[in-house]
Amino acid sequence: MRKYDLMNALLKALEPGDPDRELALCLDTGRLPRHIAVIMDGNGRWARQRNLPRVAGHKAGVEPVRATVETCAQLGIAHLTLYAFSVENWKRPRSEVDTLWRLLRIYLRRERRNLMRNGVRLRTIGRIDALPAAARRELLDVVDATSGNTGLQVNLAINYGGRTEVADAVNALIEEARARGELGKVSVTEEDISNHLYTAGLPDPDLLIRTSGEMRISNFLLWQIAYAELYVTPTLWPDFTRGDLLRALVEYQRRDRRFGGLSAPARPLDEPDESLIAALGVRSQ
Ligand code: FPP
Repeated sequence: MRKYDLMNALLKALEPGDPDRELALCLDTGRLPRHIAVIMDGNGRWARQRNLPRVAGHKAGVEPVRATVETCAQLGIAHLTLYAFSVENWKRPRSEVDTLWRLLRIYLRRERRNLMRNGVRLRTIGRIDALPAAARRELLDVVDATSGNTGLQVNLAINYGGRTEVADAVNALIEEARARGELGKVSVTEEDISNHLYTAGLPDPDLLIRTSGEMRISNFLLWQIAYAELYVTPTLWPDFTRGDLLRALVEYQRRDRRFGGLSAPARPLDEPDESLIAALGVRSQ
């Protein structure tokens, strides 16, 4: 499907007069991010504001996951990476952690058909071997069932840590060098590291969204977000809607991405000015 057909998929879902339709129409379909990463934060605060237990916030956080996946699929985004559980999240009370695994299983069962219908391929990044067996089994089952889909790829970051990922990549490179008998002269490039991350083969995120207003990266995709545009919204994750996602995309398209270079080709005025160089006493080359 071409980009505008995919955009039509979103527009078809939006009634005329729906404010989300106006936002969608502001988007330039040729300049959408290839990869969006999301730090889904604020579930606990959402629950506290309502005098509910923290797990109620996580439960309310499932619908925005569904809506975000669906909208990205309709927009023709290639990759979406969602931070669902960090290596540090095991420090939370056992009951909260168990609820998160239960919610993951509920999401997988409920959404399996929609993922297939929207052509979504589900993958995971992180050390999923540490998950409870039932959650891991159901997760791998959906990963397998969706592996032939060619639309949006959703990467669920589960038991994920950015530093752990880089350490795993470096250890894998050391092991490979040892196996080749070249440990004494091993030297690695940036490309070698990228190719050994959990995200090997994926483009780096263009846009990183964080909900709940915290100005932190929280050990998420540390290597990959070198040039990502950061978008922080005060909205708490359970309140994050399709409109919030579209607003993030509109803001993304306003940014001038320079990747350390200049935004426009050098104009004649930017060429070295010989008289200025002479006045500064610097020799021109
Ligand atoms: C951060 O909020 C959120 C998490 C650690 C878990 C994210 C889980 C979900 C969105 C639920 C379902 C997920 C899937 C993939 C089906 P927090 O608890 O740290 O919030 P706080 O900072 O306000 O306490």
